[in-house]
Amino acid sequence: MKKQVYLYPIWVRVWHLINALLFIALICTGLCLQYSGNPYTLIPFNYAVSIHNISGIVLIVGFVFYLVGNRFTSNGSYYQFKLKGLIKRVVKQFRYYSFGIFKKEAPPYPITKKRKFNPLQKLSYVMMMYFLMPIVIFTGLGLFFPDMLPSKIMGMSGLHLIDLIHIITGFALSIFMVVHIYFCTIGKTPLANFKSMINGWH
Ligand code: HEM
Repeated sequence: MKKQVYLYPIWVRVWHLINALLFIALICTGLCLQYSGNPYTLIPFNYAVSIHNISGIVLIVGFVFYLVGNRFTSNGSYYQFKLKGLIKRVVKQFRYYSFGIFKKEAPPYPITKKRKFNPLQKLSYVMMMYFLMPIVIFTGLGLFFPDMLPSKIMGMSGLHLIDLIHIITGFALSIFMVVHIYFCTIGKTPLANFKSMINGWH
């Protein structure tokens, strides 16, 4: 029998659950705002604006909590990586997901207490949490306080440019969420990773 390792401390699980729920609320209300001209909208415009704003603010508080947690606990070490050999490691993991897994090969980077994420997971989590999330948050704050935005950026309306970046980043994060959930089903059993995120044990 393989030994179980405790990988997801309670603060990560609580943050992750709240973050996922807020994300779903933000995607639904964001789509309603995007297609506000549609008479068959899921949520009336005014409600969509309020829910989107409140969820966004709570998400920011959660994000700061996550950054502080990663900075001051050992969880942050799982997000550190060396650039040297990164592409090789990512390609190796990708090859495993594409072929090796179907040939019942052993995973190239098995999960241990020291290595919670495989290289592909690590890269996508870093991209998402330390690159895309700050962009969506700062552009969201810009749209929340539009008076603080410059009227023109590179000859374009500042508000429109920030809005465009916010929508594109939000869309990229939404696609990530779908891909993320799909990859989470690739475990010992399809539900194993979801159980880990509930009880903390892998
Ligand atoms: C319904 C939506 C979601 C589900 C079902 C879900 C599921 C999971 C599961 C099962 C894990 C543990 C397996 C692993 O480490 O890969 C996980 C980890 C993680 N998820 Fe999600 N997720 C969701 C949404 C999100 C969103 C929206 C984000 C970020 C914007 C996110 C970011 C992360 C991160 C960063 C981890 C690693 C946390 C850590 O251990 O430090 N997830 N997710």
